[in-house]
Amino acid sequence: MLIPIENVFSQDEVRSMRHRLDAAAWQDGSATAGTLARHVKRNQQLDDRDPLAGALGEQILRRLGALPLFISAALPGKIYPPKFNRYRDGGTYGAHVDSAVMQMPGSAQTLRSDLSATLFLSAPDDYDGGELEIEGPFGVQAVKLAAGDMVLYPSSSLHRVTPVTRGARVCAFFWIESLVRSDGQRTLLFDLDQAIQGLAASLAPDHPDHLKLTGVYHNLLRRWADT
Ligand code: NI
Repeated sequence: MLIPIENVFSQDEVRSMRHRLDAAAWQDGSATAGTLARHVKRNQQLDDRDPLAGALGEQILRRLGALPLFISAALPGKIYPPKFNRYRDGGTYGAHVDSAVMQMPGSAQTLRSDLSATLFLSAPDDYDGGELEIEGPFGVQAVKLAAGDMVLYPSSSLHRVTPVTRGARVCAFFWIESLVRSDGQRTLLFDLDQAIQGLAASLAPDHPDHLKLTGVYHNLLRRWADT
């Protein structure tokens, strides 16, 4: 499932991130693509060792850790330190599937990519093109969100970024190994959790049905989580 998360960062916060990113030392992105993706990737990236990438990545992870909607949707086990890319002058990334297993930078740990995340740091009016096109069971969905918004989508999906023909598209992107590997099970848990949150507005917290549904949520999570 494709899940948008709005207002991860305010416009002021995005402006200050962009101020630092616009002055950064951008590098050719194709150097870091896997062998399959190299011939379709034409963009710029920040070096993972760039202190700015580390600082902004930390800021993103701190924010996500305090966002109930993100936790509910992703059920994160491990999160890859956020990376940053920029598309301009026709920059594009052709259809590809993200690598399934990744080495966590500076660590012997690996991460299985269950979910991919893109956090938009450019306003949609500031560039033409640059849609994130994701293939799913109901066809192709084109995603181009407000600055500060983020989308989560299954890493197993075929996706692409269409050419940016005007302006610049700056984003942060990263991967999540979820406690619940199956997209279908994770989606059920997300829907159940959101419904319980919705009911909480009209049911007393100690209402027996509220307690029972909350119990079902946790017992399904206990059954499906691999930790
Ligand atoms: Ni990708």
